Amino acid sequence: MLKRCGRRLLLALAGALLACLLVLTADPPPPPVPAERGRRALRSLAGPAGAAPAPGLEAAPAPAALAREVQSLSEYFGLLSRARRDAGPPPGGAPRPADGRPPPPPPPPPPAEPLAPHDVFIAVKTTRKFHRARLDLLLETWISRHKEMTFIFTDGEDEALARRTGNVVNTNCSAAHSRQALSCKMAVEYDHFIESGRKWFCHVDDDNYVNVRALLRLLASYPHTQDVYIGKPSLDRPIQATERVSENKVRPVHFWFATGGAGFCISRGLALKMSPWASRGHFMSTAERIRLPDDCTVGYIVEALLGVPLIRSGLFHSHLENLQQVPASELREQVTLSYGMFENKRNAIHMKGPFSVEADPSRFRSIHCHLYPDTPWCPRTTVF
Ligand SMILES: *[C@@H]1O[C@H](CO)[C@@H](O)[C@H](O)[C@H]1NC(C)=O
Repeated sequence: MLKRCGRRLLLALAGALLACLLVLTADPPPPPVPAERGRRALRSLAGPAGAAPAPGLEAAPAPAALAREVQSLSEYFGLLSRARRDAGPPPGGAPRPADGRPPPPPPPPPPAEPLAPHDVFIAVKTTRKFHRARLDLLLETWISRHKEMTFIFTDGEDEALARRTGNVVNTNCSAAHSRQALSCKMAVEYDHFIESGRKWFCHVDDDNYVNVRALLRLLASYPHTQDVYIGKPSLDRPIQATERVSENKVRPVHFWFATGGAGFCISRGLALKMSPWASRGHFMSTAERIRLPDDCTVGYIVEALLGVPLIRSGLFHSHLENLQQVPASELREQVTLSYGMFENKRNAIHMKGPFSVEADPSRFRSIHCHLYPDTPWCPRTTVF
């Protein structure tokens, strides 16, 4: 009896050791990021998973005073989240495909709480130069239905824009497409969201179509008081960065982040915990600490500093992926869409719609008519 138990124990130990070895050897070598950011194959990852509880970091202390403690905490949380990932996916989560095949999508979780449009704060990041070329299209399409949810963050005054919607924020940030200018806008978005008192913060770019019904469905499946960071990574592995810990000391750090170009959302519960590193301009100094763009900095705060894992969703789409692969039959479920260039080719959703590709190169007008056929300017006769 004892002997059998002993053998079983030995077998179990050997099994665990083998699993560890497999995990270790399966860990890929650090990639040369971020130069190849967005160039990598973009794998469609599975849908929402349960939000894992975050280790407590409730009271938000002053970052300067706690700098040293935070560093050891971040190390600790980094280890924790790594251990959690290595231990496998959370129940209902998306396992990392070892064989390259995407896992089957889990069934959609039941609604956690009812959600009204005014519970969600959608920040659209733009720049003065694109008000006519990009923003007008959004105002004509999805924003026209959801003005109360949508806030436009830009860098220059525009009376024509202000006449069309009241929610325009001039961030006074530089119009350059620099790391600092982007972080400056994200910092202003964050502060406005906190001020708004709303339950969810979502960030999108001015080349994103937001399918608000799908967005509300997705967010309603999570309690906004829990730690939720949801979006789509543009890399197939955690980003390797260098964290500046003091004047002349750096150390490597790695974490997942949701690509800003596909849009991402953060629950209020989590946003409040981010405050020491994100509020009132602290976001910019945090971004300086790792010298990476705004969306990476969000991932750094959430994953590396707070130990909250990103929930990957295949329902968010950026122009850094092949948008032709989004099935037209599944448009109703997608949360964000985009258009642009990908590997030097025009990249847009492939769909037959009431408008030709010449008249509607982004396909946003056709998509909008598909989702909201009662729109006055949508042709009535079209059969989809
Ligand atoms: C930008 O500058 C204007 C004029 O000084 C000011 O009224 C506004 O509040 C500033 N915006 C932000 C977000 O600080």
